[in-house]
Amino acid sequence: MTAAATVSTLNDAVLSAALTGLNVKGQKSLPPWLFYDDLGSALFEQITALPEYYLTRTERAIFAEHAHEIVSALGSDITLAELGAGSAAKTGILLRAASAAQPNVLYQPIDISASALDEAAASIAEHIPGVAIIPQVANYITERYTITRPAHYKVMALYIGSSIGNFSPTEAISILCNLRHHLAPGDALLLGVDLAPGRHKSVDTLLAAYDDAAGTTAAFNQNILTRLNRELAADFDLSRFAHRARWNARDSRIEMHLESLADQTVHIAGKRIAFTPGETIHTENSHKFTTRALKTLLTNARFTPTRTFTDANHTFAVTLATAT
Ligand code: AVI
Repeated sequence: MTAAATVSTLNDAVLSAALTGLNVKGQKSLPPWLFYDDLGSALFEQITALPEYYLTRTERAIFAEHAHEIVSALGSDITLAELGAGSAAKTGILLRAASAAQPNVLYQPIDISASALDEAAASIAEHIPGVAIIPQVANYITERYTITRPAHYKVMALYIGSSIGNFSPTEAISILCNLRHHLAPGDALLLGVDLAPGRHKSVDTLLAAYDDAAGTTAAFNQNILTRLNRELAADFDLSRFAHRARWNARDSRIEMHLESLADQTVHIAGKRIAFTPGETIHTENSHKFTTRALKTLLTNARFTPTRTFTDANHTFAVTLATAT
């Protein structure tokens, strides 16, 4: 089979993302959605349990402490709609609190992965009876989605897990503005963000969260190259690309890169991509918010922050904001 014939059968989106990001003169990049094939999703699950990756357990602890207050903020009849719900592991805490407070809870998880939604639905049906689920397979960035509102109900939209941090400030506003269009005044957004370093959190703590001792984040980052090798018949030598996590203070974000350790040429779909030693592929941004930046983001998307819950060390924030 010729290279052209092989390529014609390949995933167009992956090919286009790889060539757009790598066949360039300046900073090479790959979009972070490429991380999440089956292995990448499993590695991300492992990351969330790492000692250095404080984000998931801190947000979970905030939910556990304030679930009742969060779900009762809008009164009694609420439906919870979640962007990027995945397997909805942490959301169970809020659903339990909601179902203790009202008889009919409707949960509307929206996610690109049908299998994650199946898992979420099965686990909720088993562990939190009484919650009705309307799952929706959609990419909430590029596709239309809907939020159902039973009569007299208010909507609490959930966008948790610091997912918004993986988007640029412009993309983040656009995601929240789009969500705001699905809501009515008086509905609410619950947003989980990782906080910027400061008195309570050092840059080293942040760097460790993205470059753990067990090498799980490194494997997660490098898996993007394995995916290109498999899906685009590329020939990246993983031993010649090292995981790097960097703090970008100007843009208040952790950046993940893959650094070329040699002068080398990689072939992707018949194209030759040259790397110099030290040159990097930028694979992810993870923005960290100051209280002020968070407020500006929410206000720009027509939400008014009403309550922020945080941990004792001010590492992570869960903000409740009203749609105005
Ligand atoms: C999914 N997202 C919120 C994670 C983060 O922290 O930005 C992805 C991640 N990348 C490396 N570790 C975790």
